[in-house]
Amino acid sequence: MTASSSGATADRPRVLVTQRIPEPALERLRAFAEVTLPPSPDRIPERAELVALLREHAYALVLLTDRVDADLLAASSGLRIVANMAVGYDNVDVAAATARGVMVTNTPGVLTETTADLAWALILAVARRIVEADRYVRAGKWTHWGPLLMLGTDVHGKTLGIVGLGRIGQAVARRAQGFGMRVLYHSRHPVPAEVEQALGARYVALADLLRESDFVSIHCPYNASTHHLIDGTALARMRPTAYLVNTARGPIVDETALVDALWTGRLAGAGLDVFEGEPAVRPGLLDLDSVVLLPHIGSASLETRARMALMAAENIVAAIEGRRPPNLVNPEVLSR
Ligand code: DGY
Repeated sequence: MTASSSGATADRPRVLVTQRIPEPALERLRAFAEVTLPPSPDRIPERAELVALLREHAYALVLLTDRVDADLLAASSGLRIVANMAVGYDNVDVAAATARGVMVTNTPGVLTETTADLAWALILAVARRIVEADRYVRAGKWTHWGPLLMLGTDVHGKTLGIVGLGRIGQAVARRAQGFGMRVLYHSRHPVPAEVEQALGARYVALADLLRESDFVSIHCPYNASTHHLIDGTALARMRPTAYLVNTARGPIVDETALVDALWTGRLAGAGLDVFEGEPAVRPGLLDLDSVVLLPHIGSASLETRARMALMAAENIVAAIEGRRPPNLVNPEVLSR
């Protein structure tokens, strides 16, 4: 079932990597272990395949498309670490992993600036109708310059509302300074005053942020408390001239309510890098020029994906060497 990659020795640790990742990270792992990639390493492994593969490995480097739930963990009794190659780890049942003594790690920090860049690409794209205008030119529809042609909305000087002022939210706020924007934010807790001051960001209640912002950009983690945080009620609070941008996780937004708000003109547009049922995209979104749709590429730069893969690999190397993985998200597992 498995295709092993380097010279096999029976007693070397075995690391499963669930899809092909940047080569330097595989090389790093091969220095310490036998590395297994699935037979078709450029697609998401089927559930049964993942179950069978994990059963044979103590160390696993997984992706956000691998659902590591309680059942999968129960079927993988020899597993010691799940190193997720993403900062978000909502695909892993951390409580179940902890209960089974399995370490879980993520890749924070290295993708912050790249993801913030993409959130800004979406803000600019929806405001200035970049994708729609590109399609217009390619379709041969551009016959003359016109004073009313493809009018969008200004970004500079407007109000940006950031939902979740963690690393990525802060990087988005920093970029807003260059556009002379007023920045509002809402988080579980306000950030320290000196951080607010440096970013020129003001903490407000979510309802106020939604009411006052021209652009709302989502950067909170996905968990039970943020599921459908932006629902029909939240969307109704937004201005009909406002835009929603989501580069965090799809299910933070109630997509049915979003489609409804867009189609009824209660929201000007949306820039979406993430979706509720990825890779499925709700049909109502596909037919709207006011929406820009991306295939979850927030961190997809050559440099950043290489850094993420290496960071996930280093977490596994630490586990192999009996050290505490640097990006352990369930440290309580060590005191079990
Ligand atoms: C993450 O890391 O959580 C992103 O969604 C993928 O880079």
